[in-house]
Amino acid sequence: MEVQTLPEPRAAVRAMKEYHPPLGGREGLRLDFNENTLACSPAVRAALGAITAGDLTRYPERGPAEALVAGHLALAPEQVLLTNGVDEAIHVLCQTFLDERAEVVLPVPTYSMYEVYASATGATVVPVPAARQDFAFPYAPVLAAITPRTRLIALASPNSPTGAVLGREQILTIAGRAPHAAVLADEAYFHFHGETVLDALDRYPNLVVARTFSKAYGLAGLRLGLLAAAPAMMHWLRRVISPYSVNALALACLPPALADTAFLHAYVAEVRAARAGFYAVAAELGLRTWRSEANFVLVEIGPRHREFTRAMHARGILVRDRSGDPGCEGCVRITIGTQEQMVRCHKAMRAVLAGL
Ligand SMILES: Cc1ncc(COP(=O)(O)O)c(C=O)c1O
Repeated sequence: MEVQTLPEPRAAVRAMKEYHPPLGGREGLRLDFNENTLACSPAVRAALGAITAGDLTRYPERGPAEALVAGHLALAPEQVLLTNGVDEAIHVLCQTFLDERAEVVLPVPTYSMYEVYASATGATVVPVPAARQDFAFPYAPVLAAITPRTRLIALASPNSPTGAVLGREQILTIAGRAPHAAVLADEAYFHFHGETVLDALDRYPNLVVARTFSKAYGLAGLRLGLLAAAPAMMHWLRRVISPYSVNALALACLPPALADTAFLHAYVAEVRAARAGFYAVAAELGLRTWRSEANFVLVEIGPRHREFTRAMHARGILVRDRSGDPGCEGCVRITIGTQEQMVRCHKAMRAVLAGL
């Protein structure tokens, strides 16, 4: 038999950590991925229904949609780059700025894909741990971690899986102290929190803001996100991104999604009310939680976190075990859905905890 040889992946790829979120089998009430748990705007469904054969045969044209988003965010069209979710945005940033000599400063715990894409370039990831006591953003340690080799600093605010936020002034100070690095302000959960640094892009040429349509807008399946930055930064990012990575269906859904602000505000208000209810139930159950400004809450379950997650699943409720994240031993992250959905979650939690 012929011996089959495989080309050897780059050393950086061989050294990467495995990250395998579930790609199937998520039946039930999905409180595990911080999605919108209800629906997108009905106007988006209508736009999908109006898709023509021509929309599908042509390569997608992202220009008009980028101009529309720019107007919505009070930016110039050249300051906005649509992406295939924020995940692609992170990938593009890493491809643009990182190589084997670069360092990436990551406050941890945080969103997993920063490390995945950064490590694939061969860059050195410099984790800066937050203290478990309150998971407050490790501001002074992040400033101290900046070196002449720093090329990317990824700041998610609100952060995942903690829900902790970082103040505007702190983000801008970090950007000012690292002019030789791209500073990503990941505002994936912006709508649940309401604070942004978008207005500072003109003053900080190294600042890049990411937003997504996967969370409050309820369009995770469409894969639609964006980067906003000064035009000089965008020049390089556009060089790296695929011109067609945002598909025609996503582009068609964008205008109605942006226009239906009533839907967005109603969903956000619903989640905030449900979040307050969740905190009350967690306190009643004697569970430690951390203050979250996003549509999820990190909860300390303790050594039986795996059994808890499994037993919740058996009751039709998916939650995410985050015990493997730095500083998160024994913790589970629970997405906040509607108040009605959370009643089911609370009921399951009571029963599961009583049986552990
Ligand atoms: C902080 C943060 N950024 C980005 C993303 C990914 O967003 P998208 O669905 O737009 O790729 C997530 C998803 O969970 C996230 O938690």
